[in-house]
Amino acid sequence: MSNHLDAIAAHGGKLVNRIASPEQKQEFLSKAETLPRVQLDKRAVSDVEMIAIGGFSPLTGFMNESDYQRVVSQMRLASGIPWSIPVTLSVTEEVANSLQSGDLIRLDNPNGEFIAVLEFAEKYHYDKKQEAIKVYRTDEEKHPGVKVVYNQGSVNIAGDVWLLERSPHTQFPKYQIDPAESRQMFRDKGWKTIVGFQTRNPIHRAHEYIQKCALETVDGLFLHPLVGATKSDDIPADVRMRCYEIMLENYYPDDRVILAINPAAMRYAGPREAIFHALVRKNYGCTHFIVGRDHAGVGDYYGTYDAQHIFDEFEPGELGIMPMKFEHAFYCTRSKQMATSKTSPSKPEERIHLSGTKVREMLRRGESPPAEFSRPEVAAELVRAMQVLIEA
Ligand code: ADX
Repeated sequence: MSNHLDAIAAHGGKLVNRIASPEQKQEFLSKAETLPRVQLDKRAVSDVEMIAIGGFSPLTGFMNESDYQRVVSQMRLASGIPWSIPVTLSVTEEVANSLQSGDLIRLDNPNGEFIAVLEFAEKYHYDKKQEAIKVYRTDEEKHPGVKVVYNQGSVNIAGDVWLLERSPHTQFPKYQIDPAESRQMFRDKGWKTIVGFQTRNPIHRAHEYIQKCALETVDGLFLHPLVGATKSDDIPADVRMRCYEIMLENYYPDDRVILAINPAAMRYAGPREAIFHALVRKNYGCTHFIVGRDHAGVGDYYGTYDAQHIFDEFEPGELGIMPMKFEHAFYCTRSKQMATSKTSPSKPEERIHLSGTKVREMLRRGESPPAEFSRPEVAAELVRAMQVLIEA
């Protein structure tokens, strides 16, 4: 194995695996009816899954108070390792009071199905407003990430988790590629440099442009759309995945791209989430990570390049994954190609770019986004999907 592959060690050094063995699973199942229960929401289900498959390495469970406090205030775990987003499980005061330290807790999904256990170690109160201000840079309830924090229980319960089993994804089994597997695929392909791409939106030409600019200088592209919980007006994951399939069939070389789902939930924490997204992709084996304009942003809470600047708050090399930063890309009518202000002298009126909100409005009216914004095959799929959604 070359030195370069060693350079993509998981965050914290070792890829975590918290999927129960068949024996452990049997043992947990035999206790199922007697254990105290906590019902998870969709985000917590994603978090358990991400911890179990090593996507959140070095986390082995939901954060205890010392990790939580240091993450919120300094973007580090108690051990000093960089980490920018709290991964916590919150319950009501009443539920917290019923739990004893040392309990094994049964974690159920929103349908009441037993999916994991928590080795309950600690409970603590936390300051929601401080979390909002530090992590999301706002205490406004209308921020979708802050809203989740304000609506959750007032006590965090901490401890290691075990996922009972790794079942195939209900919607996208073909694209369920866990970190151990993506690492192996990169090795098999002989890729030494791999750029990860996070997205929660349908692919448009600016995405394609920055992915391909990155791909010109690295061995492989790991297209990693997020399919966990998103805000209600974001385009559903199945539509986005179909758009990706269309793009890969028509516009990308077969042997340079891997499409896989990222099961995590969106936080909309902008800069802090960009760091988090990069660390997660490092765990999947990426050496580089794309950060464009307003990465993981929402509304106008963050400056266009805040999610790039935050990488400078860490020592060079400390994160173990290299951000590839891109300026706002647009279609330039003067040079008749995609560009940014780094590569085009065009005036504002010569630049075609649309916001996600504008595109959603067009689609709701049954209008197709222009070819300068969206590949026609993708535009057609979006129009079709939006009509189905409206009629439903
Ligand atoms: S995100 O919330 O997942 O970041 P989105 O899917 O819109 O949202 O973006 C995916 C990635 O593409 C992010 O790194 C984002 O900064 C980048 N990006 C999106 N649109 C543009 C654009 N027009 N120019 C440059 N980068 C962009």
